[in-house]
Amino acid sequence: MLYGVGIGLTKEHLTLEAIKVIKKVDEVIVPGKMAYEIIKDIREPRIVEFLMGKSEEVVKNLAMEIASRLNEEIAFCCIGDPVFYSTFHHLVDELRNIKPDAEIRIIPGISSISTAMALTETFVSNSAIISTPDFSETEVAVILKVKNPKDVEKKLREKGFKKFFLLEKMFMEGEAFYEEMPENSSYFSVLVARR
Ligand SMILES: C[S@@+](CC[C@H](N)C(=O)[O-])C[C@H]1O[C@@H](n2cnc3c(N)ncnc32)[C@H](O)[C@@H]1O
Repeated sequence: MLYGVGIGLTKEHLTLEAIKVIKKVDEVIVPGKMAYEIIKDIREPRIVEFLMGKSEEVVKNLAMEIASRLNEEIAFCCIGDPVFYSTFHHLVDELRNIKPDAEIRIIPGISSISTAMALTETFVSNSAIISTPDFSETEVAVILKVKNPKDVEKKLREKGFKKFFLLEKMFMEGEAFYEEMPENSSYFSVLVARR
């Protein structure tokens, strides 16, 4: 099993869940010195460097290694949160090419995005853009306060989105995850759409 563990930007961003996983797995891998510095007091990790021009090869080799060790628990630690612009994404793609049913779990972390917003007192109440400087087509939509998921799905389909997830009451009584959008949902729902 492969974990992608978000470790935030500094030691104080480490979550209880991240620490728990880092302590319990068979091996911890970090993609460089920054991540090493954040977790070194919890556990000595193995450093795998993704050097410019060589990173594709390194990702491929690591994916092959992990594919052959899926009976073990391996944690790959990412600066910030693994879902944002991370090497872990490439690693997951490569691993799934080799082993489509590989068990993978992502532990969210405090991202540079939420940290920068906190430090600048920037609030989001409507829409926000998260992008690299090429401002390419929006690949993900995250919609909060979804009460009519079917209606939202229809609007997003018109914009080219094709895959929908509704996460209702996460970690609460009545928790439910949907891939087929229901007509109605609780106020405590997040809809994630992909192209
Ligand atoms: C490869 S992405 C990793 C993003 C990371 N997964 C996250 O959730 O924040 C690297 C980019 O994250 C941002 N970043 C990461 N750490 C940062 C820090 N300590 N200060 C400012 N920006 C940072 C910068 O925009 C940087 O170019």
